[in-house]
Amino acid sequence: MKTYLVGGAVRDGLLGKPVTDRDWVVVGATPQTMKNLGYVQVGADFPVFLHPETKEEYALARKERKVAAGHRGFTTEFSPDVTLEEDLARRDLTINAMAQAEDGALIDPFGGRRDLADGLLRAVTEAFREDPLRIFRVARFAAQLTGFRVEGSTRNMMRDMCAQGVLSELPGERVWQEFRKVLEAPLPERFFEVLEEVDAWVPFFVELRGKGPFDVGEMWLQERFAFWCERLAEAEVKRLCKNIKAPNAYRDFALQVHRYGEVLGCWMDRSAEEVAEAVGACKGFHDAEHLAPLVGYLTRKGAQDQRSLLTLIRRVNDAVSADQFAVKGRALGEALMSARAEHIAAGQRRR
Ligand code: CTP
Repeated sequence: MKTYLVGGAVRDGLLGKPVTDRDWVVVGATPQTMKNLGYVQVGADFPVFLHPETKEEYALARKERKVAAGHRGFTTEFSPDVTLEEDLARRDLTINAMAQAEDGALIDPFGGRRDLADGLLRAVTEAFREDPLRIFRVARFAAQLTGFRVEGSTRNMMRDMCAQGVLSELPGERVWQEFRKVLEAPLPERFFEVLEEVDAWVPFFVELRGKGPFDVGEMWLQERFAFWCERLAEAEVKRLCKNIKAPNAYRDFALQVHRYGEVLGCWMDRSAEEVAEAVGACKGFHDAEHLAPLVGYLTRKGAQDQRSLLTLIRRVNDAVSADQFAVKGRALGEALMSARAEHIAAGQRRR
């Protein structure tokens, strides 16, 4: 029995990046051998085990064959006879199909190291077609790895897969897992460039087609997403979020930016009533800190003095409270809003 480090850990190690997740392949063992050594099997019909101490994943070398649509439509063949090369051959990209032996030797049957040096995202074999998620993985690697491009025949294969409509086999949850990595990548715009190259907009990202440029600079994950969503109609934002299963926090922030970003972004030139309404809708009169994410985003976009806006709203909240009014219910709501608008108008005049 032999064990090899495989996949992303080998790739990132060669790139000099920090390696967090380590995956191992075991050749020449049976599930029983693994259990006898104290490994714990995870998943009933999948030969993956956790190391008793490190808890890292050890998979028996396997071959896969596509039998049905979708990224789970595989039969897996594993036996002690499956070789390391056979296991590497079922993988998506050459840069992910390298292994490292226990003595440190690199096993690289598909030229992954050369492609890593040349910045090429190249499919290992035609078996790439077996998993539509790989289309988004390639686009995601283009966003993560500076200077990488999709190799020509791989691009043709991806385009062909997209034309056949295979992306619609994917569950939105898997798409979000990839897209989240794009949001924190150094070059998220590259993801969309690859979608364009292979025409992978339908069905998940169709709302964003033609809505570039997607360069984002120094923005946080939710800000990046909201920035792109600003170019869409509200119904499109909702549809996109539903399709890619974006978590509520991303969706809600994108909608907040969409609805109130414009008014609060140029709050000095808007009517005090409009500003008060937007602040109220963002719950800024409950606590001015509720405005902080939106104000941070607008600041990064170069909007009108957001620090002064936040200071002004804090002052309004100190000055206006419900117990100052002798009315109740709807009348109280109106009285509060007009008092707040007056303070805001005074703040605008002082500028
Ligand atoms: N893999 C594959 N096809 C997929 C998913 C994964 O061939 N659809 C293979 C690749 O060899 C990959 C390895 O399984 O390197 C591990 O997959 P995963 O941990 O999902 O991705 P990494 O490549 O390790 O990348 P990252 O950790 O950055 O997500």
